[in-house]
Amino acid sequence: MEPPLAWTLQDLPSLKNKRIVITGGNSGIGFDTARVCAEKGAELVLACRNLGKADEAAQKIRQLLPKASVTTMALDLSRQKSIRDFAKRFIADYKSLDVLVNNAGIMMPPYELTEDGFESQFGVNHLGHFALTGLLLPVLEAAPSARIVNISSLAHRFGDMNFENPMFEGGVGYSRTKAYGRSKLANLLFTFELKKRLAERGSNVMAVTAHPGLAATNLSRYLETYFFVRWAMPLVQCFIQSADMGALPTLRALGDPGVESGDYFGPDGFRQQRGYPRRVGSSKLSRDPQISSRLWTLSENLTGIRYLGMDSPRVSA
Ligand SMILES: NC(=O)c1ccc[n+]([C@@H]2O[C@H](COP(=O)([O-])OP(=O)(O)OC[C@H]3O[C@@H](n4cnc5c(N)ncnc54)[C@H](OP(=O)(O)O)[C@@H]3O)[C@@H](O)[C@H]2O)c1
Repeated sequence: MEPPLAWTLQDLPSLKNKRIVITGGNSGIGFDTARVCAEKGAELVLACRNLGKADEAAQKIRQLLPKASVTTMALDLSRQKSIRDFAKRFIADYKSLDVLVNNAGIMMPPYELTEDGFESQFGVNHLGHFALTGLLLPVLEAAPSARIVNISSLAHRFGDMNFENPMFEGGVGYSRTKAYGRSKLANLLFTFELKKRLAERGSNVMAVTAHPGLAATNLSRYLETYFFVRWAMPLVQCFIQSADMGALPTLRALGDPGVESGDYFGPDGFRQQRGYPRRVGSSKLSRDPQISSRLWTLSENLTGIRYLGMDSPRVSA
């Protein structure tokens, strides 16, 4: 049951003694999520591709909250090697992890490939987080009741899963919108399949998901090459919600004690574009167990990552 009133930061309990990793924690929704988690007493690790920006963000949080515990670690989700290096270092430095927020993302770049030859949006937004989560599962399971929070989008509804050509091979038929939609659909399919597999193995870890509606962040950077977007963006930013409002669904997913594995949170306002977080529905495609299971196999094959206790032998970073 949803609470009768809007869910606000007053409803977020203390996060003291919680260790939280936020991918892309230096910008936009990731940054606001990090700031609030620090306010609530969490120990934070900002996992970012640019350590300079990550350190600036950590410094900003420390200026606001001198007692905040924030560290930064390099993680480039477009490079499987960087993901493995991050996991290896994290596991060496920390025994357990309470919350992994798979927040980092790119939206609608021109067709390009990651270092490992993946279409960049599928590679960063989905495969990067798939690999990271699998590698960190042992430390998540070492926490008393951990959560994995995957950040999806309203745009998942533009996406489909074409298993014959999941990554627009050679750029043929590439559409920035379709590829973004596919990567965000993959975030949901991954969450629901992960929920099922975690439950089957009797794991204490929950898989949950959230979307921010429409929030003013740096996400539109690749669209600013279009004159119209550059011209319209300041106007658009007046109508969409702030990044701190956009962070609320993530914060509810990671910290509300009433959350259950498989929950999906988004804003409660007009067409889920703005407002306070509530449980929301997702497309029929995102709930198709055959598609989510196929995506899992594809993701294992592409990344070479097998999840602890889920069909395959233990992975070491
Ligand atoms: N803003 C919205 O309206 C909206 C709507 C729906 C969903 N979302 C989702 O919300 C999430 C956060 O986006 P945002 O709106 O806060 O955008 P943002 O301000 O652009 O933040 C994105 C973050 O992801 C990081 N990132 C990008 N590529 C990466 C890589 N290869 N490795 C590691 N980190 C990488 C960025 O790092 P740099 O700063 O170094 O570039 C940045 O920290 C995304 O998953 C996005 O799809 C946002």
